[in-house]
Amino acid sequence: MNKNSATAPVIDWADWLRRWDAMQTGYLPYREQRFTAMLDVLAELLPPDFVAVDLCCGPGSLSQRLLNRFPQARCIAVDFDPLLLTMGQAVLGDAGGRLRWVEVDVEDGTALAAALAGEQVDTVLSTTALHWFTVEKLVLIYRQIGQLVRPGGVFLNGDNISFAPHLGAFRQVAAAIKEHDKKSAFTEQRVEDWDAWWAAVAHIPGITPLLSERERRFSGRPRGFDAPIIDVHIAALRDAGFHQVDVIWRRFDDCVLMAVK
Ligand SMILES: C[S@@+](CC[C@H](N)C(=O)[O-])C[C@H]1O[C@@H](n2cnc3c(N)ncnc32)[C@H](O)[C@@H]1O
Repeated sequence: MNKNSATAPVIDWADWLRRWDAMQTGYLPYREQRFTAMLDVLAELLPPDFVAVDLCCGPGSLSQRLLNRFPQARCIAVDFDPLLLTMGQAVLGDAGGRLRWVEVDVEDGTALAAALAGEQVDTVLSTTALHWFTVEKLVLIYRQIGQLVRPGGVFLNGDNISFAPHLGAFRQVAAAIKEHDKKSAFTEQRVEDWDAWWAAVAHIPGITPLLSERERRFSGRPRGFDAPIIDVHIAALRDAGFHQVDVIWRRFDDCVLMAVK
């Protein structure tokens, strides 16, 4: 043990990942069921030794569940947040050579293909992430995914995806359910919310460089939680080369969109 490691404060990243999952579940009470539905698709459609990309993986919650359920599968976890990637790597490591972490800005139209050296995969999955992107960015991201997935492969997006604007009653119900879920988790059960989680992370000793780099990478990017609408997702996936596209799991506007190439 060197001098630094004897004095450096030990960060309990596993506990931070547990808190991340609890926080995300506060927003998405059926998050585990949604993960399971996505993995059920892979069990049916892919061979046991498939290769997956967990796009916008955060600290790797989905990668972790995928690798636990499919012992012969491999996963490539992709994100651009230096702190969440550090957390995921610290907790999950390389899963015995089955998990690879890739730092890529998916908004850069060519970086993903370059990072994977043109490799095609059996499946790309994403959870609670693509709502970040504008329509223009989403279309380009789906183009990249279309090139990444092999013919016959599958894409799965688990996310809150808005109903079309003319479906006012549907939007109203979805918004009310979201508010109810948030009140139940964050007010009544006092679960840590997004802002509280990041505020707590900021107190980890020695974390400032990672947070500053995160701020440098993401500040100023346009964000929205309820656009693009589901019709845009479906059209963009068809445009990207997916022939069969539809929803396979849904709770109000929280859904899993599946696309087969
Ligand atoms: C709410 S988190 C969800 C993380 C994880 N998929 C989950 O379900 O726990 C959204 C993720 O999208 C990632 N993300 C946002 N913009 C990105 C970009 N341009 N390139 C790569 N990842 C991005 C964020 O860093 C973050 O990890």
